[in-house]
Amino acid sequence: MAQLWGGRFTKATDQMVYDFNASISFDKRLYRQDIEGSLAHVKMLAQQGILTEEERDAIIAGLEGILADVESGVLEITSEYEDIHSFVEANLTERIGDAGKKLHTGRSRNDQVALDMRMYVRDAVKETDRQLLQLLKVLQRIMEENLDTFMPGFTHLQKAQPVTLAHHVGAYFEMFKRDRSRLVDIYKRMNYCPLGAGALAGTTYPLDRDLTAQLLGFDGPTLNSMDSVSDRDYVIEYLSALSTIMMHLSRFSEEIIIWNSNEYRFVEIDDAYSTGSSIMPQKKNPDIAELVRGKTGRVYASLMGILTTMKGLPLAYNKDMQEDKEGTFDAIDTVNSCLPLFTGMLDTMKFNKNVMEASAKNGFTNATDVADYLVNHGVPFRDAHGISGRLVLKCIAKNKALDDLTLEEFREESDAFEADIYDAISMKTCVEKRLTEGAPGEAAMRKVLEINKKYLESVH
Ligand code: ARG
Repeated sequence: MAQLWGGRFTKATDQMVYDFNASISFDKRLYRQDIEGSLAHVKMLAQQGILTEEERDAIIAGLEGILADVESGVLEITSEYEDIHSFVEANLTERIGDAGKKLHTGRSRNDQVALDMRMYVRDAVKETDRQLLQLLKVLQRIMEENLDTFMPGFTHLQKAQPVTLAHHVGAYFEMFKRDRSRLVDIYKRMNYCPLGAGALAGTTYPLDRDLTAQLLGFDGPTLNSMDSVSDRDYVIEYLSALSTIMMHLSRFSEEIIIWNSNEYRFVEIDDAYSTGSSIMPQKKNPDIAELVRGKTGRVYASLMGILTTMKGLPLAYNKDMQEDKEGTFDAIDTVNSCLPLFTGMLDTMKFNKNVMEASAKNGFTNATDVADYLVNHGVPFRDAHGISGRLVLKCIAKNKALDDLTLEEFREESDAFEADIYDAISMKTCVEKRLTEGAPGEAAMRKVLEINKKYLESVH
């Protein structure tokens, strides 16, 4: 048991209590943030005359040594320490002697852990953003290549109107673009430094909080010390953003699973991204998509967990908050594995363009266009809707697509039909005439691709 307290105790901690209380098994992940925070703190303490320059230099050398040794694997973070803060401080004192004991001057583990977690989440936000950008680049490529790959657009999972693969994928482009903008917002809001808040009420030492904030790349210090040690909003916001990302990935996965089925055959998942069955030799399963869909649950769970942990807490720090870590780490690990795998799966996926187009044709997705044709020939829309519906019925009875009806068959329902009906309801016309902003028509899509291209090149 190595702990940072004990002076007011007359008995050793019960081992079970110690184990229950200890957080080293998971907060050891924070070693780098913990050391970087301490480096900034000690530089500031010396600048303020609270530590001597010799003490500062000894502590810096000690901390840098610990960091290097942990990273090279020479120094292992073991469970003999209560938490990562105790581990670093104990090792420091072992290395440099009594000067090490001065590191914690003007600081509490409450502001220390608030800082460590904030820095960890801050890095994670950036990494998620980077991975989303990779995904968006793949989506953009698929869009560029499939402006005229016709496919059915669905509502209620029923074929509705024809769209293109570019347009369908473009919907996900918008979702993941919004996900990135959420991360940018979160980053801005969270990028204030809690170090110097002490246990809850600041400290009597003349700390320069602007300096530590600046050294650690924050936009400034937080403005209320009680809030600083008890705020976990940024964890909640980030987990909420991750949940939304997973929800989007999960919807896309669901579509890929459907498209990959024998009934659809719209896509073929690359062998490198699918798995077989131990008993059914014919199977090629979309496991990656299924796992991404499945793992969405645990990311939501982390969000629910921290929301529930925080809901009844009085100000300021409470030990409950130690529960912010495992769920957050698990969610980060989950998204960090889902995003690149999903991107890789998509990047290598084959789209069966002919199957998609045939499916759009066979699903009466141009029935609205038949009605629109009639409207353009003076038939009121309500009547046109009825005529088109009766033609669909006729097609079902004859097992034909609308395009395959003879002109006589069309004219049995309305003499407004002329020979140009075939052109008017061809897949190409149906899609290309849809030119409102955001619609699947090629000219409309090209404008969007141009905007996307600029967006992907911009840095923010
Ligand atoms: N392990 C604690 C946490 O993660 C660190 C802060 C402990 N502070 C305290 N006063 N015991 O929240």
